Amino acid sequence: MPAIAFVNGRFSRIEKAVVSVEDRGFQLGDGVYEVLRTYNGRLHAVDAHLRRLFRSLDAIELKHRFTRAGLTRIIREAVRRGGFKDSLVYLQITRGATKRMKEFPKGVPPTLVITVRELELPSPALRANGAKIMTAADIRWMHCDVKSICLLPNVLASNKARAAGCYEAVFVAKDGSLTECASANIFIVKKGVIATPPISASILGGITREEVIAVARKHRLPLQERRVTLKELLAADEAFLTGTTIEVLPVVQVDGRRIADGKPGPVTQRLHALYLAEVA
Ligand SMILES: Cc1ncc(COP(=O)(O)O)c(C=O)c1O
Repeated sequence: MPAIAFVNGRFSRIEKAVVSVEDRGFQLGDGVYEVLRTYNGRLHAVDAHLRRLFRSLDAIELKHRFTRAGLTRIIREAVRRGGFKDSLVYLQITRGATKRMKEFPKGVPPTLVITVRELELPSPALRANGAKIMTAADIRWMHCDVKSICLLPNVLASNKARAAGCYEAVFVAKDGSLTECASANIFIVKKGVIATPPISASILGGITREEVIAVARKHRLPLQERRVTLKELLAADEAFLTGTTIEVLPVVQVDGRRIADGKPGPVTQRLHALYLAEVA
């Protein structure tokens, strides 16, 4: 089945979909995005994703007339047209297409792009064996809580990680604290206590991060939202990543150094099972 796209009111096959060469997303990275998925055809956490999208739009002062109900309708229709068993939904809104200028243009409507393709899950081997990750200096801007399409530092870090045979890159701030990964949030487990960096402008507030925290609290697993250092990660009993498509994914190596015995840990595996039970 072909992947499909929705661009400013029109559905088409993804290969047929186009935006202007003058789109401010293309020229300036002037836009925001969201990534959602379905479980058995049912859209997951659409309200939370759209709340975050509207916060991102507000943060970059992008004036628009979109509503959550309207966008939800279009996303549902896009998923229906895609017809995949499970879908990956990408949604992007930019400040529209116009002559290139840095300041906001007047009277230019935003560009809305939605694509739907078949969801690719982490391979069973990756899930069973856990992910190797590498560290990268966090050289990003000071509004990582905004889901901006300006992703060059994430692109460079991800590419470096993949070239080194790693699944992800974890960003480390100048003071040695972890922020998050190029496409995921990070958690550690030490002596049964789960810890993850707190919500701040240095990380994206992951929807899965919130869900996993809620699951841990519901099952009375001790969890702290606090500063977590690279040193702690290296000395942790377990570590894992969270994200929409990876759910809860064990981390077993950082920069070639094993985390504990180098195998996915029991708390991570339990949390993933509890998470699946919650979303199913
Ligand atoms: C930088 C970053 N952090 C965290 C996440 C995880 O967010 P979510 O759980 O909402 O998918 C993502 C997802 O793409 C991301 O790009």
